[in-house]
Amino acid sequence: MKLALFGHGVMGRVLEAHARAAGHEIGAVLTTRNAAEAARLLPGHDAAIDFSVPGAVAAHVEACASAGVPLVEGTTGWQGSEAAVRRLVEERGGALVYGPNFSIGVNLFYRVAAAAAALFRGLEAYDPFLEEAHHARKRDAPSGTALALRAILARELGHDEIPVTSLRVGHIPGTHRVGFDSAADQILLVHTARSRDGFAAGALLAARWITGRRGMYAFAEVLDDILATERRTP
Ligand SMILES: NC(=O)c1ccc[n+]([C@@H]2O[C@H](COP(=O)([O-])OP(=O)(O)OC[C@H]3O[C@@H](n4cnc5c(N)ncnc54)[C@H](OP(=O)(O)O)[C@@H]3O)[C@@H](O)[C@H]2O)c1
Repeated sequence: MKLALFGHGVMGRVLEAHARAAGHEIGAVLTTRNAAEAARLLPGHDAAIDFSVPGAVAAHVEACASAGVPLVEGTTGWQGSEAAVRRLVEERGGALVYGPNFSIGVNLFYRVAAAAAALFRGLEAYDPFLEEAHHARKRDAPSGTALALRAILARELGHDEIPVTSLRVGHIPGTHRVGFDSAADQILLVHTARSRDGFAAGALLAARWITGRRGMYAFAEVLDDILATERRTP
């Protein structure tokens, strides 16, 4: 695939390395220096992948939809404009796959957390909680992944009294803990990212998947397809 990148910070660089290693071509790399030229630079790419800043997401979605380039949206912290982004994609006939976390392991962890929360539904002795930790440069808190976990727990528990704590320190790629605490004991589920490689690999899978599609999809839908294919393969 010929890929355009929005953002060339820590994630953008990890993604570029993975994409080149997998044999993809990197075309336009758009940062604050040349984002205004997106309309001219985007045509001719098979897909674009965005790891930039929340305030730029709507402009990137618009530029991709206008250029007919499917977009993988990895930036977090833009949930507030999700309805507007969806409208934009639908009105322009664009293609977008988004996810606060492209790691396959985290997306399986969402399902583990959902199953666990379903077991605790109605058990007042247990208080649910969430903890997340990331590197000191991360701007949004709680993380998009923690917000997704909170929504999952609220759905399965039937209430949203779920405190979330965020730690920003050092170089942690991303750790999320889902806990259920009682007077007698504590049950703790933990996902620990060891590096950013899993995010890049998932974003590339999403780019391949979105090519040729239209509409707005959550990464969970990509994962469903991938798991179904892998489980069919002996
Ligand atoms: N979905 C996932 O799996 C996942 C995983 C990890 C991180 N993330 C998210 O990815 C995002 C980026 O993380 P990061 O650690 O790579 O951040 P970063 O190192 O700060 O890099 C941000 C990049 O965005 C660029 N940028 C800023 N404004 C822009 C604009 N208007 N148009 C185009 N590019 C612009 C910056 O360009 P300049 O260099 O010119 O300032 C920089 O290259 C964050 O929202 C983070 O939470 C998502």
